Amino acid sequence: MTLEDCRIIELPKIKNPSGNLTAIEGEFHIPFAIQRVYYLYDIPGGSERGGHAHKNLQQLIIAMSGSFDVILDDGYNQQRYHLNRPYQGLYVRTLIWRQLDNFSSGSVCMVLASNHYDEADYYRDYDEFLRTLTCRTTL
Ligand code: TYD
Repeated sequence: MTLEDCRIIELPKIKNPSGNLTAIEGEFHIPFAIQRVYYLYDIPGGSERGGHAHKNLQQLIIAMSGSFDVILDDGYNQQRYHLNRPYQGLYVRTLIWRQLDNFSSGSVCMVLASNHYDEADYYRDYDEFLRTLTCRTTL
């Protein structure tokens, strides 16, 4: 898995003078079935979230309100994305380390996930994450 497998997905935007609408269908607009939705809110200024990678989980990260940055890291390269549109999502593959920062006041980060919550799916130690990648590339 590399950063090239991650990308911004443009979601449908149904425009209406009374307010716009975006719908997301799993395995149609995004490449996985949605098993879980969670969101971050009431985020104090200067906070950092994330700081982990997942073994099997795929995610789509959306700035539902306000803005924030997501830094993706495949163990070799890093890329910073600024998310600030509720009709754009950042698709994050498995085995990608992510960190979120630069949250604007009142921002809401919604995450669509391909699996139920499972702590065993996390790499929370960056060195362990790098060791796993090295083992995979030398096999
Ligand atoms: P974590 O994934 O580390 O949050 P973030 O990446 O936003 O910093 O999760 C924070 C805590 O919330 C941790 O104790 C696990 C718990 N949690 C759940 O119980 N269910 C969930 O779906 C998620 C994402 C986290």
